[in-house]
Amino acid sequence: MTENATSTAIRTPSRWVTRFAPQVAPRGTILDLACGGGRNGRHFLASGHAVTFLDKDIKALPDLEENPLAEIVCADLETGAPFPLQDRQFDGVVVTNYLWRDILSDICGAVAPGGLLIYETFGTGNEAYGRPRNPDFLLKPGELLETVGTAFDVLGYDHGLRRAPSPAVVQRIAAVKR
Ligand SMILES: C[S@@+](CC[C@H](N)C(=O)[O-])C[C@H]1O[C@@H](n2cnc3c(N)ncnc32)[C@H](O)[C@@H]1O
Repeated sequence: MTENATSTAIRTPSRWVTRFAPQVAPRGTILDLACGGGRNGRHFLASGHAVTFLDKDIKALPDLEENPLAEIVCADLETGAPFPLQDRQFDGVVVTNYLWRDILSDICGAVAPGGLLIYETFGTGNEAYGRPRNPDFLLKPGELLETVGTAFDVLGYDHGLRRAPSPAVVQRIAAVKR
């Protein structure tokens, strides 16, 4: 892959995210958790949403510093300290390619009533295709369904082989908080 193709891939939002993004209320607030370069949050910014980008490494976000709709939060989510945004809720919470089970309930708690959770990350079976292979970073079948439980209405869920942009076994959910 050329450098340009690589950076385009990094900047291209997840198809799962773009599929469900229209379900978030216009101008609703978004949390892009463990955002990396912020490809998913940037998709919402482009449609006028206020987006909070959170990651322990925010060096890929300098171009957003002056954007009035962007908030950048630098935080390590795996220290055992209270969830950094525990007093806040968002109309959309997006998590892709990140799993730290200790904060799954905080992630659900960060979704406002009527708001949307969009979560997509690697699942059991991905070992055959590449990293991650460590079960700590692979969702078990049904795990996101169990996580949202009866507190959310599920709009979409699957666990299986995703062929593009690269073959991987992923689990993903889009669910509205009751
Ligand atoms: C594979 S990248 C995914 C980035 C983005 N969500 C995406 O799909 O393009 C995982 C991200 O999780 C962040 N991350 C890893 N451990 C973290 C931690 N302890 N606290 C906060 N962010 C963390 C990394 O810095 C990285 O940006």
